[in-house]
Amino acid sequence: MTSMNVETCTVVIFGAMGDLALRKLFPALYQLDRMHLLPDGVRIMALGLEIETEATENARIIGSLRRFVPAEELDEDALGRFVERLCYQAMDFLLAEDYLLLADRLEGHGQLIAYFATPAALYGSICAGLAGVDLAGRTRVVLEKPIGHDLKSSRVINNEVAQYFPEDRTYRIDHYLGKETVQNLVALRFANSLFETQWNHDYISHVEITVAEQVGIEGRWGYFDKAGQLRDMVQNHLLQLLCLLAMDPPSDLSADSIRDEKVKVLKALAPINPSLLFGQVVRGQYVKGYIQGQAVPGYLDEPNANAESDTETFVALRVEVRNWRWAGVPFYLRTGKRMPEKLSQIVIHFKAPPHYIFAAEQRPLIDNKLIIKLQPNESITLQVMTKEQGLDKGMQLRGGPLQLNFSDAFGTSRVPDAYERLLLEVMQGKQNLFVRKDEIEHAWAWCDQLISGMRAQGESPKPYVAGSWGPTGSIALIARDGRNWYGDA
Ligand code: BG6
Repeated sequence: MTSMNVETCTVVIFGAMGDLALRKLFPALYQLDRMHLLPDGVRIMALGLEIETEATENARIIGSLRRFVPAEELDEDALGRFVERLCYQAMDFLLAEDYLLLADRLEGHGQLIAYFATPAALYGSICAGLAGVDLAGRTRVVLEKPIGHDLKSSRVINNEVAQYFPEDRTYRIDHYLGKETVQNLVALRFANSLFETQWNHDYISHVEITVAEQVGIEGRWGYFDKAGQLRDMVQNHLLQLLCLLAMDPPSDLSADSIRDEKVKVLKALAPINPSLLFGQVVRGQYVKGYIQGQAVPGYLDEPNANAESDTETFVALRVEVRNWRWAGVPFYLRTGKRMPEKLSQIVIHFKAPPHYIFAAEQRPLIDNKLIIKLQPNESITLQVMTKEQGLDKGMQLRGGPLQLNFSDAFGTSRVPDAYERLLLEVMQGKQNLFVRKDEIEHAWAWCDQLISGMRAQGESPKPYVAGSWGPTGSIALIARDGRNWYGDA
């Protein structure tokens, strides 16, 4: 083991030549190696139908590292060391004989980490294949999202996996949980009594969660069109952020204590049924426009698009958490593709003081906010009211930021990618940052009723121009409560 308690193990990647593995998993493992966090004995076995010779695959992986790792982090020694860890096997994940060959190759390898970077429809067969050659007992399995497309299908997949792997060896990824600032939410809330004492309906008026992306569909039309932004982003990433913001303090930091609290939030989400859709949900679909001055096509003009699609690429929601802490506090969520900038941000709006003593015309200025920027340029800003300085100013109020910018404050030169953290945690056998089966199921149950309500209503998503903040209905959704999205230009 290293000082980080990383166990010697073999990481076996199913679907190793797919986009996720090349774009995220190999770069993350390389970075861990470069930072000397992998013990010498760690091996990486890449599996896929299309695997060719070792030389060809080494070249392919080095090529993708050169593409996805920033040039200044490519160190030739580290690359050489990393390639030494790699081995390959061509494999059809549905063929029992291929698992026999795999078991031979893995003889004597000890702890295994099987990362499923494949469609979820294959998870059950891969688990059965591993169990069939007696590999299951020493394996932790890592499941990528999406696990199913609704409650029913996610249960089928989870149950198939559970036949062979107990929950304490099943690691369900939501990569947002591996982001540094997302973990910081727990520190911010529970290591600062300053915030936790105010974290309820007495002091908070409303909360915004924005996850905006500049990218469009990135060649994933086939997948995305069946999912849409609600299943692709809200069911997992945004609900996880909501849970971490809204949950009660866990009794300790163990995986189950945290996950128990998150589940309570999911159970308390108020259903949004068809009669409530108006005013609580807005769906959008981008049409052609400009992103950073570059013309980009509309969703229906993307390669391989079905011009009739009514899949949403944007969704805004007004959500309520029905419990004592959050009674009457709306959570406004919005997420979309082809937005003006990449931005993941949480804004907590505090209520005005109960008794106002300053000039009447300055009253609208009073607006304490805590702004937590998850990406890019991670920072936490507390917007506070002060007095304008100067002899001529009297008691004139002014809002100003108390700001903690992570890279300036702590000199952090690079923020590790979420997958680096998550892979490290699996190797350490820690499940805090992974999603438990019941969490996924409650999240699906809530999304299912919303999706079926939208289907029953039969309205198409509203168009919005690529490079804008979504359809005007999204502005109206929050404006109906007399508010606006923070920071929209
Ligand atoms: C993935 C979604 O889970 O998250 C993608 O499938 C999305 O559609 C991505 O682009 C966003 O992740 P990040 O880390 O870039 O915010």
